[in-house]
Amino acid sequence: MSTPSARSTTAAEWSPASWRARPARQQPTYPDDAALDTVLHDLATLPPLVTSWEANELREQLAMAANGKRFLLQGGDCAERFDECRADILANRFKVLLKMSLVLVYGLNKPVVRVGRLAGQYAKPRSSDTETRAEETLPSYRGDIINDIAFTPASRTPDPTRLRTAYNHSATTLNFVRALSEGGFADLNHPEHWQLGFLRHSPLASEYQSIVRSIRDSLNFTQTVAEGPIPGLRSVTFYTSHEALHLPYEEAMTRFVEHQGGYYNLGTHLPWIGKRTAHPDEAHVEYMRGLQNPVALKVGPDLPASTLTTLIRHLNPDNAWGKLTLITRMGAEQVSDRLPPLLRAVEAQGAHVLWVCDPMHGNTEKTHNGYKTRRFRTILHELEQTFAIHQAEGTHLGGVHFEMTGENVTECVGGARGLTEHDLEEAYTSHVDPRLNVEQALEMALSIVRMYRNGTDA
Ligand code: PEP
Ligand code: CO
Repeated sequence: MSTPSARSTTAAEWSPASWRARPARQQPTYPDDAALDTVLHDLATLPPLVTSWEANELREQLAMAANGKRFLLQGGDCAERFDECRADILANRFKVLLKMSLVLVYGLNKPVVRVGRLAGQYAKPRSSDTETRAEETLPSYRGDIINDIAFTPASRTPDPTRLRTAYNHSATTLNFVRALSEGGFADLNHPEHWQLGFLRHSPLASEYQSIVRSIRDSLNFTQTVAEGPIPGLRSVTFYTSHEALHLPYEEAMTRFVEHQGGYYNLGTHLPWIGKRTAHPDEAHVEYMRGLQNPVALKVGPDLPASTLTTLIRHLNPDNAWGKLTLITRMGAEQVSDRLPPLLRAVEAQGAHVLWVCDPMHGNTEKTHNGYKTRRFRTILHELEQTFAIHQAEGTHLGGVHFEMTGENVTECVGGARGLTEHDLEEAYTSHVDPRLNVEQALEMALSIVRMYRNGTDA
């Protein structure tokens, strides 16, 4: 095995399968390798879900976000589920991202790059390979692309046919979301189409409605002056992202694009490397370094600055703007200690990166009644500290990353409605991490606007 410093980044040495020579964490063990190979072979012949042009366009937009000309809003479920691939659920997810982005466009006065954790976010890293209940030990649930959450030997055994189901559900999801984003549904002249019924009774309703009213007034004014509809308002651009965790699946979705002269993962626009697989010598980084897509890396509180700069060299050897997004997820308690040295190291390296804050994953806690939750106040606190640290260091926070859903769930405590630990019993549906509900997501967007307006960075 070559050392990272000896490793060259020429296309000749890298292939979509070169990760196989390196240790790969968080991979399932399938009982039947031949069955897995059959599915992978089949997947590799199916049409891509996205195009190289879209991936390149996103890369350009992320470059602008890195330089303060756009703002990245990345969000969606912790884990998508096969049984949630339904019109109502998907439309609500799309609506909440649209609403948040509307607030951000209006409040920050710059275009927002919308990226969903969507159409492929099916694989989850776990802290243990197995789960024990009473006397029984079974493989951990690793996301619907691998196994089923029911605690039985049959459900928990990794099943390769799920890879094909994940591809099909990703395609169905993306098709629906593309239709919504390109049709009249996303029309800025008619934001009432994206109204979520229960929001009418929210404590935030009037603040949100007044933004919608101002936008409509400005549009009416501009369209009157222009004497006709302004092109470009009827549709929005929407990109997909997921954690590139299940490497055989990602490899099967990787294609050589002749006219671009390089390899792209065409299963998603923006694949990312999770905190648990961010190791320079290992398989996930090896796989990711050869892609032409923009890529992202989760940066946790225990990542040494020297490892981060090594990772940056592997993932963005040409130091191109827009190629690499660093998503920091330190936790509200650790961010003030951990983030500044990393920002300084990356600045000293002269690396061109887009800094994004994920204030969710470092702030998960267990309640007295046994729920995994996150506190609205703590999430916002990490975000505000991250913003202030970037300002103090002279770097730029160009986006945010949230786990949220379009349903009226009760998984995170706090927010304008003051959800308590007791309320979590009402509508806790996540199989993995607690998500912001619609009200909390919207309140977060309003808080981000306040934060940027109070700072000097807007
Ligand atoms: C996630 O984004 O769902 C996740 C597992 O994040 P991280 O890798 O940052 O822990
Ligand atoms: Co998560």
